[in-house]
Amino acid sequence: MDKYIIEGGVRLFGEAEIQSAKNAVLPLLAAAVLTDGQVKIHKCPRIADALNMVAILGELGCKTRFEGDTLCIDSADAANHEIPAALAKELRSSVFLLGSVISRFSRARIAYPGGCDIGLRPVDLHLNGLRRLGVAVSEDGGYIDCSCARLRGTEVLLDFPSVGATENLILAAAKAEGTTVIRNAAKEPEIADLQNFINRMGGKISGAGTAVITVEGVKKLHGAEYTPVSDRIEAGTFLIACAMCGGSIALKNADPVNIASLLHKLREISCKIHAENDKIYIECSRRLSPKIVETSPYPGFPTDLQAQMTALACICEGATVIVENLFETRFKHVPELIRMGADITVRGRSALVRGVPRLHGADVFASDLRGGAALTLAALSAEGRSSVTDLRFIDRGYSAFEYKLRALGARIRRVRV
Ligand code: UD1
Repeated sequence: MDKYIIEGGVRLFGEAEIQSAKNAVLPLLAAAVLTDGQVKIHKCPRIADALNMVAILGELGCKTRFEGDTLCIDSADAANHEIPAALAKELRSSVFLLGSVISRFSRARIAYPGGCDIGLRPVDLHLNGLRRLGVAVSEDGGYIDCSCARLRGTEVLLDFPSVGATENLILAAAKAEGTTVIRNAAKEPEIADLQNFINRMGGKISGAGTAVITVEGVKKLHGAEYTPVSDRIEAGTFLIACAMCGGSIALKNADPVNIASLLHKLREISCKIHAENDKIYIECSRRLSPKIVETSPYPGFPTDLQAQMTALACICEGATVIVENLFETRFKHVPELIRMGADITVRGRSALVRGVPRLHGADVFASDLRGGAALTLAALSAEGRSSVTDLRFIDRGYSAFEYKLRALGARIRRVRV
């Protein structure tokens, strides 16, 4: 188990390069199972979630190797339809493999997926959608078993625009017989990335980024190369870091359109932001309260930036209400922020944050990925020394996090506990 030791109170200056999006890479890796051709994912970040997905692909019989930062996947010899429990528990996105594994082998078996403990996270929308495509699903002893003689295109209306369910259905429908129309689909940019990648493999998908996605099943998909979209959540985390610590930074390989909801909030609290080509520049000194931050599906404010925004609200002038609409228990970072001097009251899915002039250093514990990032940002801005344990959560989604922060001037180091 590792932890960060952070000496807070240092302003940030310089440039950081944003990685490819975790939430784009994971479904692309699932899509690699749909072909027996060669797939190359360029700029694949070496984050724990991606490496776990690579390990699962290995268990399925795919050959994988890194050439620099390009991940090469050869699924020609894939022969196994069972996703091992130990790996599925590590990674919620293993559930995306249901769609592609069924498509490839006409059956799939997976242990109930794990991931961050931020709420119930059921998979009913995934399973109901797959049933509509003709899959027989049975659940027993913590396993989901799926089988299907033939996947058939159909209309699926999602009760909620679930990102994972939308992606799973795209994966299952890509080679189904006939056309599938997914209504009330999620609109996240990572879904457009999955569409574009499968189309590059010879797929016929349109509408990603809107609420209606049409997937015309094709007989065969071939290999393809792809560079995933940049990670809007990593970019947002660095922007909030600068807003909290003060200073001015530039982010390379960042897309301002994909995090427009955050940029709007940061401008409201008086940060100066401008974007040019693939760079976002931010400069911050004074911080007003953002008043209200309410998470919602894209293009709304992302739940994956809620914890970081809560940390920022702790040191804004005035009170902020944070409303978490996506996940039930996504405030586990709050007791830790309170240990650093924050003034926060949580009631149900809302938190009332009353700004204080500054936080102070403390020994705090991360219990999920984005909560861990939020505590790191709080420690960077706080007066004095902090430690943030346990970095396994942060490693799930941020590559070289402490190196990038150190390059911006932060005093942060990683130590073995
Ligand atoms: C994806 C992202 C995650 C992000 C989330 C919401 C990936 C790898 N992960 O997760 O980082 O926080 O979107 O933007 O892309 N739900 C159901 N039944 C289902 C599926 C979902 O009730 O079958 C509910 C969930 O409990 C949650 C809401 O729908 O309350 C949103 O979940 P969903 O959009 O599916 O999130 P994920 O795909 O798991």
